[in-house]
Amino acid sequence: MAGVTERAQAEALDAADPLAGFRTRFELGDARHVYLDGNSLGRLPVATRSRVQAVLEQWGSQLVSGWPEWIDLPLQAGDAIGALIGAAPGEVAVTDSTTVNLYKLAQACVGARGGGALVTDRGNFPTDRYVLEGIAAARGLQLRIFDSDPLDGPVVDDLDELRAGDVVVLSHVAYRSGALADMRALTAAARSRGATLIWDLSHAAGAVPVDLRGAGAELAVGCTYKYLNAGPGAPGYLFVASELQGALRSPIQGWFGQRDQFAMERDYDPADGIGRFLAGTPPILQLAAVEEGARLTAEAGLDAIRAKSVALTELIVALHDEWLAPLGFELGSPREPACRGSHVSLNHRRAWTFTRALIDARVTPDFRGPDSIRLGVAPLYTSFTEVFDALDRLRAIAQRDDLPDAAPARVT
Ligand SMILES: Cc1ncc(COP(=O)(O)O)c(C=O)c1O
Repeated sequence: MAGVTERAQAEALDAADPLAGFRTRFELGDARHVYLDGNSLGRLPVATRSRVQAVLEQWGSQLVSGWPEWIDLPLQAGDAIGALIGAAPGEVAVTDSTTVNLYKLAQACVGARGGGALVTDRGNFPTDRYVLEGIAAARGLQLRIFDSDPLDGPVVDDLDELRAGDVVVLSHVAYRSGALADMRALTAAARSRGATLIWDLSHAAGAVPVDLRGAGAELAVGCTYKYLNAGPGAPGYLFVASELQGALRSPIQGWFGQRDQFAMERDYDPADGIGRFLAGTPPILQLAAVEEGARLTAEAGLDAIRAKSVALTELIVALHDEWLAPLGFELGSPREPACRGSHVSLNHRRAWTFTRALIDARVTPDFRGPDSIRLGVAPLYTSFTEVFDALDRLRAIAQRDDLPDAAPARVT
């Protein structure tokens, strides 16, 4: 994308974009608003509004008799997500938050195969570290946090110290730098040492082709409200390879994971299959939204999504080099597109102040302290012109010498 420095060039890229038509399948609001935070919360798909409305109507008219139709949604939506991440039918359930799902899988692994340390990298998303920290403390296990390269993320050499019985959690796409980890190589490295690796796919699913079975992965969790566009607070998902399901037990023994759920008087006996990792009553309105988001992604196809994502992030990198590097910015993401997910971090010591000024200029990025502006591109609705405009507005902001420091905020 080097050489794209005129808006007309970005408009030409949009005109040639095979995914351009998907943009109108989302609620877009103010046309001047450039939304580059789909890696945090995706836009609302138009179809989701009517689908959720239909579920509301069912609730209003059918009340509790709606349940026979709703009760299988966690596994139905799971299969829809599974098809996007290289899982077989019956290997994914949509349930609970990513945090809770990680807790369930990590505890289940410790119970079945553990005894070793709980391991992750310092650059991993905080909730992943917190969950492992809590389990380690509760079970008297060692917690090992290793330092991965802040730009390139974890690599095979980082797993040299793994031992049999260790449970490792890694993110496929690093939340801060956007580094894309080599799932196949890291999974093989962990398995060859007798360790169990749980992947966090939150920043990958819907933006990067993921092939869990092809990579030999056994376990994964992830969010649906980012690139899968399922809405604020939509449930996460968990993947357990079918060969492993019988050996693992959820630490949360809830009635939705019970064999013969409505035979109420029996002792807990987990259901066969992925359903055993459910806990309590599923959020039906949001599950309907998960299905709609997954449907749109499947319709566009992940290869086309990835091709556009690479082109969009390449444009950000090129405009960074051309306009922003001379203003004191540094690229906080891998330069090689094959090693990057669908967001780019631009680092600057005044990143927070620039973030606030960008929001005032009708661009929504997100900020990760202390110095990163994250620009997420969602190929289903982000255009090349939007990326161009956002970087152009950021350049204008960074050139100002009268910009006062912004006050801190509770949510960033
Ligand atoms: C990589 C990663 N893992 C886990 C989470 C936490 O997800 P949840 O809040 O749904 O538990 C997030 C949230 O943004 C995330 O980015």
